[in-house]
Amino acid sequence: MKALVKAKAEPGLWLQEVPQPKPGPGEVLIRVLRTGICGTDLHIDAWNEWAQTTIKPPLVVGHEFVGEIAELGEDVESVYVGELVGAEGHIVCGRCRNCLAGRRVLCANSVGIGVHRDGAFAEYIVMPAGNVWPHLSSPREIGGSAEISRGPRGIDLDVASIFDPFGNAVHVATQYRLVAEDVLITGAGPIGLMAAIVARHNGARYVVVTDVSEYRLELARKIGVTLAVDVSKTRLSEAQAELGMKEGFDVAFEMSGVPSAMRELIDNMAHGGRVAILGLPEHEFPIDWSQVVFKMLTLRGVYGRQIFETWYQMSVFVQTGLDISPVITHRFPYRDYKEAFAIGHSGKCGKVVLDWSE
Ligand SMILES: NC(=O)c1ccc[n+]([C@@H]2O[C@H](COP(=O)([O-])OP(=O)(O)OC[C@H]3O[C@@H](n4cnc5c(N)ncnc54)[C@H](O)[C@@H]3O)[C@@H](O)[C@H]2O)c1
Ligand SMILES: [Zn+2]
Ligand SMILES: [Zn+2]
Repeated sequence: MKALVKAKAEPGLWLQEVPQPKPGPGEVLIRVLRTGICGTDLHIDAWNEWAQTTIKPPLVVGHEFVGEIAELGEDVESVYVGELVGAEGHIVCGRCRNCLAGRRVLCANSVGIGVHRDGAFAEYIVMPAGNVWPHLSSPREIGGSAEISRGPRGIDLDVASIFDPFGNAVHVATQYRLVAEDVLITGAGPIGLMAAIVARHNGARYVVVTDVSEYRLELARKIGVTLAVDVSKTRLSEAQAELGMKEGFDVAFEMSGVPSAMRELIDNMAHGGRVAILGLPEHEFPIDWSQVVFKMLTLRGVYGRQIFETWYQMSVFVQTGLDISPVITHRFPYRDYKEAFAIGHSGKCGKVVLDWSE
């Protein structure tokens, strides 16, 4: 089969013929239809410091995907051949305290597809059957037809392909009650944008998004945020004044990983404000802890997705009309992966999707 491989310990990805994997007992073979390109994949392509210490070539990369079940391994009864599925990309140990208690997102021994083991940028991938999430499909979609129905009848394949990062956004946005709250989101990358859509869907009053990229701020305006603020030019205190806000934001999501964004976020929280942090900073950095204390802020790190509660919520949000498709700005056949990755690196994009169904 064809696969995008980190073949050598140097910058680049290579489209290669590799053996098609076989599903063992308890596993399924999935024919990949669409995949999303993530920041992680860009890091692996660029071969940055993190990638050099984490990735052991050769490795099939990619973890955001949707596909259809092609073959069942022994003892698999929970899915059927032809079923449209996504999959949780973290494969947990099943034996640690958190796993045994059903808190699989907190497994400290989890293994990630496309990072620690072969991933989804390929015509086929093998997954444990227990990692599979069923999507509602309509038959004509499975062939990859351009005519796509929405709503409970069937999910848009491009939307289904980015349930992994959508899940990060939903996991963050469901940490706190948002009804009538004023929400700040620092970082208008794909995940920040999807979190903004979820915040509106879940009843927030104002959703203010920050970034320093005009392209991404424009995308934020397109999806209908209250205010998209370029923090290279405008202070958040001015944005608050423009909206007539007097006491600061009630809830904030940090989705940039940038220290100055985190500091300005803390400056602009209301007393009792609640913060969920998804952005991964490259290095440790100081913040004004006395504000955290005086304002009695709650700061909470958020990782991955709840397995499978977040997946359930995503499916229900999509079925009740939440639309993340405006976040997808580019689509390419997998053979044009070089162009797709170049767009990803440029930052002049939302989510970039590769089509493997040809
Ligand atoms: N915790 C997890 O499980 C998890 C999972 C996926 C991604 N992440 C992290 O979440 C973050 C968001 O992911 P993404 O894919 O949307 O990333 P992204 O890199 O596409 O988006 C980050 C955005 O932050 C913007 N930015 C830069 N400086 C800024 C500033 N000073 N203020 C506000 N915004 C600024 C960038 O222009 C960019 O648009 C990243 O840091 C990523 O590493 C964490
Ligand atoms: Zn990802
Ligand atoms: Zn575990």
